[in-house]
Amino acid sequence: MSQADGFDALLQEDRVFEPPAEFAAQANANDPGIYEEADRDHEGFWAKFASELEWSRPWDTVCEWTPPTVKWFLGGQINASVNCVDRHVRTARRNKAALIWEGEPGDRRTLTYWDLYQDVNRFANALRDLGVEKGDRVAVYLPMTPELPITLLACARIGAVHSVVFAGFSAESLRDRINDMQAKVVVTGDGGYRRGGVIPLKQITDDALDGAPSVESVVVMHREGLDADISMQDGRDHWYHDLMAKAAPRCDPQPMDSEDLLFTLYTSGTTGKPKGIAHATGGYLVGTYATSKWVFDLKEEDVFFCTADIGWVTGHSYLVYGPLANGATCVMYEGAPDTPHRGRFWEMVERYGVTVFYTAPTAIRAFMKWGTDIPAKFDMSTLRLLGTVGEPINPEAWMWYHANIGGARVPIVDTWWQTETGAICVAPLPGLVALKPGSATRPFPGIKPMVVNEQGEEVKVGGGYLVMKRPWPSMLRTIYGDHERYVKTYFGRWGPDVYVTGDGAKIDDDGYLWLLGRVDDVLNVSGHRVGTMEVESALVDHPDVAEAAVVGKPHEIKGQGIAAFVTLKEGVTPHDGTIGVLKQHVVTKIGAIARPDEIVLAADLPKTRSGKIMRRLLRDVAEGKALGDVTTLADPTVVAKLRDQYADKEG
Ligand code: WTA
Repeated sequence: MSQADGFDALLQEDRVFEPPAEFAAQANANDPGIYEEADRDHEGFWAKFASELEWSRPWDTVCEWTPPTVKWFLGGQINASVNCVDRHVRTARRNKAALIWEGEPGDRRTLTYWDLYQDVNRFANALRDLGVEKGDRVAVYLPMTPELPITLLACARIGAVHSVVFAGFSAESLRDRINDMQAKVVVTGDGGYRRGGVIPLKQITDDALDGAPSVESVVVMHREGLDADISMQDGRDHWYHDLMAKAAPRCDPQPMDSEDLLFTLYTSGTTGKPKGIAHATGGYLVGTYATSKWVFDLKEEDVFFCTADIGWVTGHSYLVYGPLANGATCVMYEGAPDTPHRGRFWEMVERYGVTVFYTAPTAIRAFMKWGTDIPAKFDMSTLRLLGTVGEPINPEAWMWYHANIGGARVPIVDTWWQTETGAICVAPLPGLVALKPGSATRPFPGIKPMVVNEQGEEVKVGGGYLVMKRPWPSMLRTIYGDHERYVKTYFGRWGPDVYVTGDGAKIDDDGYLWLLGRVDDVLNVSGHRVGTMEVESALVDHPDVAEAAVVGKPHEIKGQGIAAFVTLKEGVTPHDGTIGVLKQHVVTKIGAIARPDEIVLAADLPKTRSGKIMRRLLRDVAEGKALGDVTTLADPTVVAKLRDQYADKEG
């Protein structure tokens, strides 16, 4: 397996950054003994965080682990919206800013906890009025406006399971997800802004609903200032503002069993169909609450800016549930980092006095390219902590972030986690752990990752597969509607008590973890997961295409780019526009995030004698590497031809 070679690559990073004394002195987590303590009694450790939340009924059992089935805080009842909103409006936080929002065109809104409380209550009633009951699924296809967190919390309030579909996904992707979850209601908007353009969300939703019979109602949010050409279907479609005007102002929260689902979120896997990752209310809330408090060190006066879109898990956990459960102030931004100018994020840091800033390595690499003079124009002296997530951060990008955004004085938390893990699993506690650029450092207390070899044996120092040996509260409970797939995907390789992350990692002499990226057929493009199989299916769906193979290829900004090798059907003659047409076909089928960076039209694909496409060789071709062993190929000349063709193309 080619990945094994990658595990052995030498690490040459020996810079170490100790926690600044001033930071350590005030940190929420400042006792080095907590690591050992949490290891000794991880249930007690999590229960302590759980007891800081508000339960309408206390739990009887902290954890029940019958591998691979896990339950946390059994017997307990808790409502997520109560913990994110009601709890704060009873205190001095009532008039504190919960959300400071900016639209891409520059419009601004600030919602206090009281404002948020009112909107969540009203929308919860509006959903109930539409017939949404506990356990019903609500698909959410909204732009990044305050109505998005409001919708999530309103669903949580009445026990509906929300499932956000990123607003960049196509009608077909939206339809597939709606059908998989059997959504009763879709909440969308007339449009949203992205890079100065408008995403026609309602039109896409209408397309998606052609063939999605479970949906009874559609709620449409009007985006301020937008004049979208949309039609409203009588009896099915309702304006958000009309429903809100009619809805009663208070809505009793639905008591939820700890294990009742809070939400599902679809993510790409190694097979064609995205999986609905299902999260349980109690454990998820405890996990996001605890990690927000300790990794981001959130305090009363913090202003936390997480740049992620709520269409992905990072936005769920660290723009909505985690920070709001902590009563923090969150900055939320609708659009692109370079609209209308490349200093947009830093301008917002200055404007709102952001103290904790969380973004992705792909963004940092873009900022590096845009130049240091851009952030230098803004006053970012309020920043006290920086974070990254989504993909491995290369040490150069880490150092750039440290020097140019953090003023060489601010700790960086590199946080490793997944849609499935619900919350951060590997990251430094910034007041306690010395940092090494490019390493996510240590597991969060209570969490037990392990690096293992092909046989599943622990690798104490060196590279291998990253697995998890112990359950934690915010881990996924199942794949929605397909528990067998959950068992097989995550626990199928080394036994039912070993969670397989799908990532490679290396552990160094100090026990620090270095994440190496995916070891399966999932690509990480700009921090977003894209399944190679999904892209292949989209290509093969085009009438001219006979076969397609998709591989990742290193990309300066995106981390990984998408390279596709395609053979056309017999009798089809390619023309100048063929590649463009095929790329567009993938965008139409999946969404712009899956657009191949390059497509090579090949006469043939390299296959083994039994007919399997040799993706390993295609990766070598795409990366311009010397070709490995080709002796198992049915026709070794195929790959040599491809390589020459590829080299011509690059040249
Ligand atoms: C990758 C995003 C290295 C990893 C929260 C994982 C990372 C996948 C890091 C999950 C990190 C995430 N260092 N790699 N700090 N964070 N990843 O589900 O490959 O969108 O498996 O969750 O992103 O992506 P997902």
